[in-house]
Amino acid sequence: MAREFTSVGVVGLGTMGAGIVEVFARNGIDVVAVEISEGALERGRANLTGSTDRAVAKGKLAAADRDALLGRITFAVGLDALHSVDLVVEAVPEHLDLKQRIFAELDRVCKPDAILATNTSSLSVTEISVATTRPNQVIGIHFFNPAPVMKLVEVVRTVVTSADVVADVEALCARLGKVDVTINDRAGFIANALLFGYLNHAVAMFEARYASREDIDAAMKLGCGLPMGPLALMDLIGVDTAYEILDTMYRRGGRDRRHAPVPLIKQMVTAGLLGRKSGRGFYTYERPGSPVVVPDEATPVTTEAALADGARAITKVGVVGSGTMATGIIEVFAKAGYEVVSVTRGAEKSATVCEAVKTSLNKGVVRGRLSEEDRDAALGRVTWSAALDHLADVDVVVEAVVEELSVKKALFASLDEICKPGVVLATTTSSLPVIDVAMATQRPADVVGLHFFNPAPIMPLVEVVRTIRTSPETTATARALCATLGKTAVVCGDRSGFIVNALLFPYLNDAVKMLEASYSTADDIDHAMKLGCGYPMGPFELLDVVGLDVSLAIQRELYLELREPGFAPAPLLEHLVTAGYLGRKTGRGFRDHTHR
Ligand SMILES: NC(=O)c1ccc[n+]([C@@H]2O[C@H](COP(=O)([O-])OP(=O)(O)OC[C@H]3O[C@@H](n4cnc5c(N)ncnc54)[C@H](O)[C@@H]3O)[C@@H](O)[C@H]2O)c1
Repeated sequence: MAREFTSVGVVGLGTMGAGIVEVFARNGIDVVAVEISEGALERGRANLTGSTDRAVAKGKLAAADRDALLGRITFAVGLDALHSVDLVVEAVPEHLDLKQRIFAELDRVCKPDAILATNTSSLSVTEISVATTRPNQVIGIHFFNPAPVMKLVEVVRTVVTSADVVADVEALCARLGKVDVTINDRAGFIANALLFGYLNHAVAMFEARYASREDIDAAMKLGCGLPMGPLALMDLIGVDTAYEILDTMYRRGGRDRRHAPVPLIKQMVTAGLLGRKSGRGFYTYERPGSPVVVPDEATPVTTEAALADGARAITKVGVVGSGTMATGIIEVFAKAGYEVVSVTRGAEKSATVCEAVKTSLNKGVVRGRLSEEDRDAALGRVTWSAALDHLADVDVVVEAVVEELSVKKALFASLDEICKPGVVLATTTSSLPVIDVAMATQRPADVVGLHFFNPAPIMPLVEVVRTIRTSPETTATARALCATLGKTAVVCGDRSGFIVNALLFPYLNDAVKMLEASYSTADDIDHAMKLGCGYPMGPFELLDVVGLDVSLAIQRELYLELREPGFAPAPLLEHLVTAGYLGRKTGRGFRDHTHR
C-alpha cells in the first residue's frame, strides 16, 4: 500500500513553487505554502491567484473549484509552519548552500517520517540530502514549468533514497495526474540535460547577432513545431534560474563548454532582466509576471510596406531541379500567382515533375483546400523546360538540385551567364556554404540562401541565408518574396545548419549519447521531452523519421565547421548507420517499425 499524503508543504512560491502548490491543492491535498518574508508571501499568493484566475477565465476551472482549491492552502512565513506535513517540496533559488541550509532546518522542524523533496533542476540531490539526518527520505521531485500544465515529473533517487520513499512518491505523482520517469542523480536529469545546451546555443546566436530574437524563436516554433522558441522559453524559466542551472551543469556535467553560460546571460541577470517575472528579459512584457509580450525598441516592423522596402519587384520565377524540394517549390510559387519556369535535365524528368505537381494540387482539391479553377490556373502558370536558356527573363531563380557543391557551382556559373542583371539567385541548400555557391558567379551580392522545409507546400518556414557578400536589397527581396508565399521568413548568417538544424541536431545527438550511457531508456527520454517540454515528438521518434544517416551527416557538418567537441557524433549513431538501421525508411532505427 502506498503511503497516503494528506498534507504537504511547499517552500518558495516563485515561478515553480506557486505552480506546485496549485498542483497539490487541485488534487484535494492540503498545502502549507511557505515564503521567506511577508512581501514574498504576497507575491507568491498573487502568482497563484493569477494562475487560477486565468484558468477560470479560460473555462478550464470552475469558480467554485478555484475557491475550494484556495481554501486548502495555508500561507505562512518561515519553515516552522511545516511541523506536521507528510511531505515537503522545496522550490527556492538554485543555490546549493541555500538549499542545504533549508534542508537542515526542515530536518529539524518536520516529523521524523516526513519525506523531504527538492525541485532542483541541476544540483546534486545527494549533496542536498546529506545536510539532513535522514538522507534516505530525501528525493528529487522535478516538476516542469508551468507545473499545473506540464505532465512530466522527474523523480530523482540518490544512492541512499529508500525504495519505499521512491514508490510512495511515484504513487503520489500518479494521483496528481502526472507521468513520472524515475532516474538517478545526474546533472540536469533527462530533460534539462538535453534542453539547456540548446538554450545556451540559441542565446549565443542572438548575442552574436546571427539572427534576431524573433527569428530564432520563429525558426524553432515553425521549423520544429515547438510550443515556444528558446529565447521566449528562457524568459519563462527565468534568466537567473537558467544561469544557475547552466553554471551547475557546466561544473557537474563534465565541463562541457556548451553549458558554460553565454556572457549575455550573466549581464542580463546583473541588469535585472530576469524574464517574465521581472517584466523584461529577452522580450518586454506588459508587467512583471505577465505572459503578454509588448513591443519594445528591438521589435521589428513587419508591415507590408516595411517588408517591401528595398525589395525588387518579382513576377516571374525560375525553379531548377526535379526532386522533392523543386516539385514542392514549383507548386508553392504557382499557387501564389507567380509565372514559373521549371527547368530540369530532360523532357522525361519534366514530365515526372509535372505529374507530381498535378498529383499534389489534386490532393488539395480532394481535401477541399483548393478549387478546380485555382488548380488549373496554377498549372497554367508553369512552363516546363529542359534548357537553362529559358531563365533569361525571370526575376528570381531558385536552385534545388542535388546537394553537391560542384554541381551547384557549375549551375550558378551558367545562371550568371544566362540571367539578366539584378536577378536574385537563390539556393535551397541545407548544408553547403552559400558563399561557395555565390562565388561561382560574378554577382555574389545577388546570391542568397532560401532554405525551404519539406514538404514545401505545407511547412510555414523559410530560412533566408545571407552571406557576407549578399546585398541588403537581395535579402529584402527574398524576405518580401517569402511573405507573398504566405511563409514566415527568418534571416540568418551563412553557417552550417543555419538556425533550425544547428539548434536541433546537437540536441538529438545528445539524446543518443544519453541512451548510450544507459542513463535512461529511449521511451523515457521521448516521454520526458514530450511531456516535460511540450515537444511534438521525442528525439528518438524524430531521428527515426528524419533518418539516422541524414542526421549523422548534418551532425558531422556541424562538428567539422565549429570543431566543438560536444558536437562530435554519438558513436551509437554511427554504429546504427553502419548497420543499416536508418529509421522508418529501412524499417528499423532506434525502434523496430516492421511490426507496428
Ligand atoms: N523556472 C523553471 O522553469 C524551473 C523548472 C523546474 C525546476 N526549477 C527549480 O525550481 C527551483 C525554484 O526556481 P524558480 O524558478 O521557481 O525560482 P524563483 O526565483 O522564481 O522563486 C524562488 C522563490 O523562493 C523564495 N525563497 C528564497 N529563499 C527562501 C527561503 N529561505 N525560504 C522560503 N522561500 C525562499 C523566493 O522568495 C522566491 O519566491 C530551483 O531549484 C529551480 O532550479 C525551476
